[in-house]
Amino acid sequence: MKAVVIRTFGDPDGLEVVDVPMPVPGPGQVRIATEAIGVGGVDAVIRRGALAAHGFREGHLLGSEVAGRITATGDGVDASWIGRRVWAFTGLSGGYAEQAVAAVEDVLALPDGLTGADAVTLGGSGVVAHFALDRARFTPGESVLVRGAAGSIGITAVQLAARAGAGAVAVTTSSARRGTRLRDLGATHVLDRSGEGGPDAPAGFDVVIDVVAGPQLPLFLDKLNPNGRYVAVGVVAGRPPADFGMRLMDAFRRSLSFATFSADTVPGTDRQAVRSSQFADAARGDLRTVVHDVLPLDQAAQAHREMDAAKVFGRIVLHP
Ligand SMILES: NC(=O)c1ccc[n+]([C@@H]2O[C@H](COP(=O)([O-])OP(=O)(O)OC[C@H]3O[C@@H](n4cnc5c(N)ncnc54)[C@H](OP(=O)(O)O)[C@@H]3O)[C@@H](O)[C@H]2O)c1
Repeated sequence: MKAVVIRTFGDPDGLEVVDVPMPVPGPGQVRIATEAIGVGGVDAVIRRGALAAHGFREGHLLGSEVAGRITATGDGVDASWIGRRVWAFTGLSGGYAEQAVAAVEDVLALPDGLTGADAVTLGGSGVVAHFALDRARFTPGESVLVRGAAGSIGITAVQLAARAGAGAVAVTTSSARRGTRLRDLGATHVLDRSGEGGPDAPAGFDVVIDVVAGPQLPLFLDKLNPNGRYVAVGVVAGRPPADFGMRLMDAFRRSLSFATFSADTVPGTDRQAVRSSQFADAARGDLRTVVHDVLPLDQAAQAHREMDAAKVFGRIVLHP
């Protein structure tokens, strides 16, 4: 079968389309004929070699999120899964392929009306958006800032906060056009990447959900209201300054909180319950997914080029 591996770490040209044996599902696993493959920020991080120390080597078959039809089951898995259309988390490898394997507990049946592209746009990121707001103890009426809102996590966080009755939903983004699209999804204020939003922007926020981190993170800690909660969910701009915690200590009397959040710390059954509910919402049109583009699997390098150039609004998807 056709698959995409990292021939050499670095830029997208190092991705290569290869023929590999069809995977055989092990005990507790299923095999899926993919119809949609999500291209995520973490794939680009692995491609660059930044996670080589964590065991991600050249030759790695990328891809963590797919949708498609189950074609085989391993020992201990109910064979009635065969033929069902599902979303699946493949565990940071194996997704960029015509057939992928996943543990059956990381598989979710797709409701009618949800495309594979929708599923891989919402499946991983929607859960992050939901639990980030939950960990931030967000309550209706509070003001929220989503930093890096133009990605699939941010797009869902904006909608969830707006739908839950946030007093304000501000976003950071790099262009007016993206800002308009985010307003259409529920944003009430549009700030630039530095957090400037003109005279009408709220002076502070009760909750900040940050997908970006990087050198400018301290500027956004300064935007927390007293008792404000900051939840970092991503690092698309890299690490924050080593001393960023001093910003919180210096603001001691404002009772600010900073947390990281990884969906890995949420029990799998809780993740699946939220995902199932979000899939149903999306199938009904109550939650919007934004698919930037759908490209053939053998154009995975082009998909990565678009991600690297920050041209993607929402999620880019591959199909075999
Ligand atoms: N916490 C978890 O459990 C979890 C799970 C999965 C993934 N992640 C993490 O989430 C991140 C990916 O999320 P995503 O797919 O939603 O994001 P994304 O699409 O990769 O990026 C979101 C937006 O951030 C903005 N951005 C990019 N570079 C920036 C920079 N240098 N400075 C400021 N803004 C910048 C861009 O929008 P504009 O151009 O409009 O500014 C971009 O569209 C990764 O770090 C990944 O590791 C976390």
